[in-house]
Order: sequence, then C-alpha cells, then structure tokens
Amino acid sequence: MTSVLFVCLGNICRSPLAEGVFRSLVEQAGLSDHFRIDSAGTGRWHIGDPPDPRSIEVAARQDIDISGQQAREIVPGDFHSFNIILAMDNNNLSTLRARAGAQNSSIRLFLDHPPIDVPDPYYDDENGFEEVYQMVKAGGEALLNQITDNSDPRYGIRT
Ligand code: 4NP
Repeated sequence: MTSVLFVCLGNICRSPLAEGVFRSLVEQAGLSDHFRIDSAGTGRWHIGDPPDPRSIEVAARQDIDISGQQAREIVPGDFHSFNIILAMDNNNLSTLRARAGAQNSSIRLFLDHPPIDVPDPYYDDENGFEEVYQMVKAGGEALLNQITDNSDPRYGIRT
C-alpha cells in the first residue's frame, strides 16, 4: 500500500483537484487497491468545506467528481501515516517542514523535476484553474510512473 497526501493552503482549490485527478489515474491503471489517497491544507479557514466550485467544474469536465470532498487541516499524525506528502508550492513545503520537525522524510514539492510551484488560483479566474488542472495531471502521471516502475524503494508497489 502506498499512501499519498496532497497539501495546499486552503485544501479547496489545488490539493482536492490533485487528489481527484491522481485517484482517477490510479483507477484507470487498475491499482486502486494499492493506494490510499487524501488531501489536506495547512490553513484552517475552509475546514469542512467542499472544494471551490471552480475546481469541481474543471474536474467534472474530465468526468472526475470531487464534490464530495471536505477540506481538512493537516494533523501531526499525517507525517508518519503517509509515505508521500506532496506540497503544491514552496510556501506549503516550508510550512509542512516546520510542522513536521524531524518526521519530514516523506515531504517534498509535488512538481520537482524541475521544481515549480502549482500557482494558487484562488484569486484567479477559470483559466487559473485550467492551468492547475494541466499541472496536476502531468504531475500525477509522473508520480504514478515513478511509483509503478519500482525504481525508488521508498515508494514502490508490489502487484
Ligand atoms: P488552495 O487555494 O490552497 O489551492 O486551496 C486557496 C484557498 C483559499 C485560500 C487561499 C488559497 N484562502 O486564503 O482562503
């Protein structure tokens, strides 16, 4: 079982979309039984809220339903219960590292080859959400390839 946690600031725009897109890729690969996939935010503003309607919409256009998700804040237990914790941007990465203390080995930037931020689309328009979708799709595909090629002993799955 490989467990993956996507983290952004509010857990209503980027990380819910990343969670939904990655879950869809895993389902298409027939690997759902091998994964636990979740998302969380570093901030508290939107705890309990569904994803932003613009994230729901951009996912729905790809037949991905993320409307049932509920925002939550990252909790200390996440740092040892997830194999892979993926920060959407460098601010999220710094916050996660500060909160994790010594338990930080599973934390990294989601898009790290090369390292780039998934931009916060909250104050942007629909185009910002489409850009986020394209980025999390490409990043999700790269992540799934990295996990399934079993080249990294931290992440490999046995099928
Ligand atoms: P997210 O976007 O981190 O991608 O979920 C944001 C959502 C809400 C806020 C900031 C970013 N906010 O400040 O409320």
